[in-house]
Amino acid sequence: AQQDENTWQIRIKRRGHISTVTYPYNPLDVVGWHGDNTVVRLNWRDIRPLMSHRYHLPPSAHTTFVANGFVICTFTPRPVESDPGALKVPFYHNNDDYDEVLFYHRGNFFSRDNIEQGMVTLHPCGFPHGPHPKALKKAQTDPATFIDEVAVMIDTRRALEVGEAAAGVDVPDYVNSWRAPGKES
Ligand SMILES: [Fe+2]
Repeated sequence: AQQDENTWQIRIKRRGHISTVTYPYNPLDVVGWHGDNTVVRLNWRDIRPLMSHRYHLPPSAHTTFVANGFVICTFTPRPVESDPGALKVPFYHNNDDYDEVLFYHRGNFFSRDNIEQGMVTLHPCGFPHGPHPKALKKAQTDPATFIDEVAVMIDTRRALEVGEAAAGVDVPDYVNSWRAPGKES
């Protein structure tokens, strides 16, 4: 009902001054809103990923949802960093505030060895981790120009517990996957 072809003016206050923008119609031309007031479901195919040709962006750059006590990051297919000096894999780190759960949905998971589609990893807070040795070597030698992966990460402020179903399919040796060959305990 508010739509019309009359002249409307918008006044914009900035640094104590007012600018006027004149429209030949009512710019409040939203017809309506269907569905929820916020996005609750997002198709990864609709995400246009951030990337830098010189720097491997930290996971937080891929945050899709922020909630009270947790964040969700979505990793989607994207170009590999092209600068010769760029680090092309995630840096080694430990997250002292959040438990990290990663679900590997589809593709090739360039920073992991022996991780297949459908797997989930849990890195409890404070646990140092990063690229697996083989993956690190591959990143330094592989001329791949595209990361074809889809993964979803949930980082939680509160400690997670492993449920029975997950414990039943646990890969107990995962924790050793960063060890140098011959140093398995
Ligand atoms: Fe991490």
